[in-house]
Amino acid sequence: MIQEFNKIEKVEGTLKLPGDKSISHRSVMFASMARGTSRIYNLSNGEDVKSSQKCFIQLGAEVSNKNKFFEIKGKGFKEFIKPNAPLDAGNSGTTIRLISGILIAQNFESTITGDESLSKRPMKRIIFPLTAMGGKISATEKFTLPVTISPSERIIPINYELPVASAQVKSAVLLAGLHCEGITSVIEKLPSRDHTEKMLELKTEITADGKISYASKENYPEPKEYFVPSDISTAAFFIVLALLSKNSELRIKDVSLNETRTGILTVLKRMGAKIENENERIISGEALGDIIVRSSALNNIEIPVEIIPNIIDEIPILSIAGIFAEGEFKIKNAAELRGKETDRINAVCHNLKILGLEVEEYEDGFAFSGKIKNYSPVFESFGDHRIAMAFAILSLILQGGGKVDNFECAGISNPDFINQLKQICG
Ligand code: S3P
Repeated sequence: MIQEFNKIEKVEGTLKLPGDKSISHRSVMFASMARGTSRIYNLSNGEDVKSSQKCFIQLGAEVSNKNKFFEIKGKGFKEFIKPNAPLDAGNSGTTIRLISGILIAQNFESTITGDESLSKRPMKRIIFPLTAMGGKISATEKFTLPVTISPSERIIPINYELPVASAQVKSAVLLAGLHCEGITSVIEKLPSRDHTEKMLELKTEITADGKISYASKENYPEPKEYFVPSDISTAAFFIVLALLSKNSELRIKDVSLNETRTGILTVLKRMGAKIENENERIISGEALGDIIVRSSALNNIEIPVEIIPNIIDEIPILSIAGIFAEGEFKIKNAAELRGKETDRINAVCHNLKILGLEVEEYEDGFAFSGKIKNYSPVFESFGDHRIAMAFAILSLILQGGGKVDNFECAGISNPDFINQLKQICG
């Protein structure tokens, strides 16, 4: 489906967005693992989190939507039941990678599949450490889906140093660690998002070598109430829209302000963005608050390597802000972008070239400068929700608007994107 977007005049009003995708996945998983009834408020309504729900229903969890909250009746320690068909993780990297850490400890065989995009994404990064823990996992020759997990006699703790900054890999190892005698530890040089640690109240420490997180049986989840803050990665699209539109002021309520996720606010503020936080508080260990954004003139800045894991999902929309900022926009040290829902370096460069910008592509990033030359662009989403929404935001700012092909993939994280735009753009 080609979606057309016309230039908007200004952004004003207040938005309440659905729950953070990463915290929602983990809430569904931890509630399903805990024996008894948990409640989840403000769960993400995106397709990715539905994929996690479906997998855990197949594994025996009971999930019901009670309108104000989701209720999950979980199974308990190593009590999941053998699924009667392959588990389908859909488009979701978080589902396949985290669930594998849980499944290596169960007493049955399971197979996990995914859509075309997920079937191309790298799984060696979890297969390697989970095999070192005694897990029995097989995949294709290229270490891609489908993945089959067979029961193991024993899952053993490991001390694992992450070769790439990845919260999904870290979480897969820590979740496996909840099932073994002894303590599993994961060390990361550049800290990735820490929802698993916060939500399971894991011990962590900062050392000269990096951040270490520990997990053991003691940390296995109990039933509880989860309150999911709104998704800062979803908010980022509306933040950039408000910054780049004239005479605009937007409030986004109850957004996750977890410090491993707010890199996008830090970078935009350094670029000159007028962004303030209000009503900051902590619920269920996770920080949240309102974000107020006003139209701003921006300058491109040097983006430090340490912040890359913290902004990894926001780089497509950050690059849209970069088009309208003074100076050259440059991202380096972000090779991880090539293994996302699509190769996001290639996807962003492809679309920026359509605009007529001078684009340079690197193995681990890209740079661009110059003036927009094409005033009736048709952008390609490459089936990636964040590429689709980033170029939708750009289209809303361009004089003649723009179109995004294969826009329906936006529903992976935010099925209500168009309605939310209507609320704040008139
Ligand atoms: C996620 C971690 C990140 C991120 C993804 C969600 C998570 O991936 O890109 O959208 O929920 O743990 P990596 O861990 O692979 O960097």
